[in-house]
Amino acid sequence: KKRVAIMISGGGSNMLALLEDMARPDHPAAPCLVLSNDPGAAGIARASARGVATDAVSHKPFGKDRAAFEAELTARLEAANPDIICLAGFMRVLTEGFVTRWQGRMLNIHPSLLPKYRGLHTHARALEAGEAEHGCSVHEVTPELDDGPILGQARVPVRAGDTAEALAARVLGQEHRLYPAVLRRFAAGDRRPVWLDFDGRHEAPERGAAG
Ligand code: GAR
Repeated sequence: KKRVAIMISGGGSNMLALLEDMARPDHPAAPCLVLSNDPGAAGIARASARGVATDAVSHKPFGKDRAAFEAELTARLEAANPDIICLAGFMRVLTEGFVTRWQGRMLNIHPSLLPKYRGLHTHARALEAGEAEHGCSVHEVTPELDDGPILGQARVPVRAGDTAEALAARVLGQEHRLYPAVLRRFAAGDRRPVWLDFDGRHEAPERGAAG
């Protein structure tokens, strides 16, 4: 099986969706590490409760020295020897050096239909722009922020009266379908993108799990 490291910063609901799918016996991958930049991240406790190895490197003592922070991340990752790294709500920008080290093996989930709305506050920006639809993307990580080949997208409708929170919850429900579908395919060596349509069944995901 392919070894998968998952990098998180928060609640880790996408991480849980990935772990749940990898727990199925037919899955081509298995988790080798959940790594956070926040030792107190709720997702760390959730992963270890499921018997998955966890580790954390706080970015705080490194201040502005991203290279030193990333060297420490690399050391922890190398110890776990992953074939694939999934960024799942990892909220630190990664430098070119780090990204290049893992390029072709590192995936990210982003809450917009890329190339629209790179960066933060994607749901509020999509509402402000009057979009009729929104969604999420999984892509290969390249040095440009929220760029790189698209490995899958899921769309959701924007509804009259939506708040950023309501829209975020609708998108998150689709993230939990999309990321496992993409990882399954990618781990099997297939880089064709996954396109998911909104099925209406994931309207009210457990927001608590998002942390
Ligand atoms: C998810 O919506 C993910 O797409 C987003 O953070 C959330 C993490 O939730 N990622 C980014 O915004 C990356 N820039 P989770 O911790 O419950 O998976």
